[in-house]
Amino acid sequence: MYFHFLVIALGTLVNNGLAATFSPARAPAIPLAVRSPYMNTWLEVGSDGGSQGFLPGAWPRFWAGPQPGEALGANGAVTGWTGLIKVDGASYTWMGQPKIGDNFPTNVEQTSFEYTSQRSTFVMNVAGKVSMNVTFISPVAPKDLKRQSIIGSYLQVTVAATDEASHSVQLYADTTAEWVSIRNTDTAQWSFSNQNNIASHKSWRQTQSEFNADFPDDGSHWGNWYWSTATTPSLTSQSGGHETVRGNFLRDAKLPNTQDSNYRAISDNYPVFAFANDLRNVGNNPITTLYTIVHAQDNAIQFDGANGIISVPSLWTSYFRSDLAMVEFLYKDYSTVDGAIDHAFAVDSLAAGGQDYLTITSLSARQAFGGTQLCGTTSKPYLFLKEISSDGNIQTVDVFFPAIPIFLYSNPVLVKHLLDPLFENQEAGRFPKQWSIHDMGAHYPQAIGHEDGQ
Ligand SMILES: *[C@@H]1O[C@H](CO)[C@@H](O)[C@H](O)[C@H]1NC(C)=O
Repeated sequence: MYFHFLVIALGTLVNNGLAATFSPARAPAIPLAVRSPYMNTWLEVGSDGGSQGFLPGAWPRFWAGPQPGEALGANGAVTGWTGLIKVDGASYTWMGQPKIGDNFPTNVEQTSFEYTSQRSTFVMNVAGKVSMNVTFISPVAPKDLKRQSIIGSYLQVTVAATDEASHSVQLYADTTAEWVSIRNTDTAQWSFSNQNNIASHKSWRQTQSEFNADFPDDGSHWGNWYWSTATTPSLTSQSGGHETVRGNFLRDAKLPNTQDSNYRAISDNYPVFAFANDLRNVGNNPITTLYTIVHAQDNAIQFDGANGIISVPSLWTSYFRSDLAMVEFLYKDYSTVDGAIDHAFAVDSLAAGGQDYLTITSLSARQAFGGTQLCGTTSKPYLFLKEISSDGNIQTVDVFFPAIPIFLYSNPVLVKHLLDPLFENQEAGRFPKQWSIHDMGAHYPQAIGHEDGQ
């Protein structure tokens, strides 16, 4: 009787996925694509509506809400991101919470999670047949302003058989139009391109409002999003309504290479931008598929500097002649993203404060850099910083205090790029008080100062 009870209890724990490991910790939120104040997508972990740290079965979210409709309030707006996989004809979910018809495809079993400064890795077991290594990399490149200026993140999925057999495997991933605005009543538009062996779904808010001139909120109202992968013979793609596109994959194990041109509200038959790869027979040799997501804005910040209010470009525009040139560079640059930064942060954090300190620094590296954005030109760069989780002020002096150690440590010139906007504004006499300005504006990205002294 006693043993029987134990077996039931253990079974319940495993069913809840609690057998999985989290290393070095199960953090309150797991960074997925965190590169700027606007590319800031996390897996929320809390049991209060969160995922408990499991990628399959919960939606990735932008840090802030609220959003009207189903996904309410403080948990942040959903940035729909879905992963499905077929193994020997059976369908599974490895990311998100997609409902197709009346079904949620069975979740793969997440067995472990680990993070380093740039990387969040989930290891999955699919029916005891294949393993998946699902790795999100948001590069941290403090000394390399070209690479740090790119607002782009990687998702790499590696699949291999875990028994001695080989298995028929097809992989699917999509993003939804929810990335283009945190208000899902906004209208989205999209297009598809195939250039230099990179296939990209581009999407944007149909009504572009540079610098959020229309109204302030935490999402971005202008610029383009690119969801990309390599053009291989095994690739098929589609844009369209969520259940149609995902249903096509579940039924056919591929997509029909068609595009939906009925541009509509984000929540109106949620448009999704999908890729499917037929990996064919997967044995012990791992097969890797790489995706990127990029946010491209030509101008990033409105700034009341030495010569009055100007538009400050994104720094990436100094290095790349077009959005797609940047997307292509990022994709093909993957091989240069090694673990050197992760290693350096780990060694130095361990020396300074031991494992507990490393547990925090490696979690917060992407968060700290993701609160900032490199702007300006190569001869006059600026690092703009947004208050996140408070009120959205820009270049707030008291927020520099907790943020500054990572910049001083990783590349002190970043502190100059952070402080310059404040100095230039005040030295030009645009702040009438005798003390330091508190911030450069109430609403990021409007660094329009406080000429009234308030
Ligand atoms: C998963 O993939 C990442 C990126 O290639 C790699 O760094 C990591 O070691 C892999 N982890 C496992 C457990 O396979």
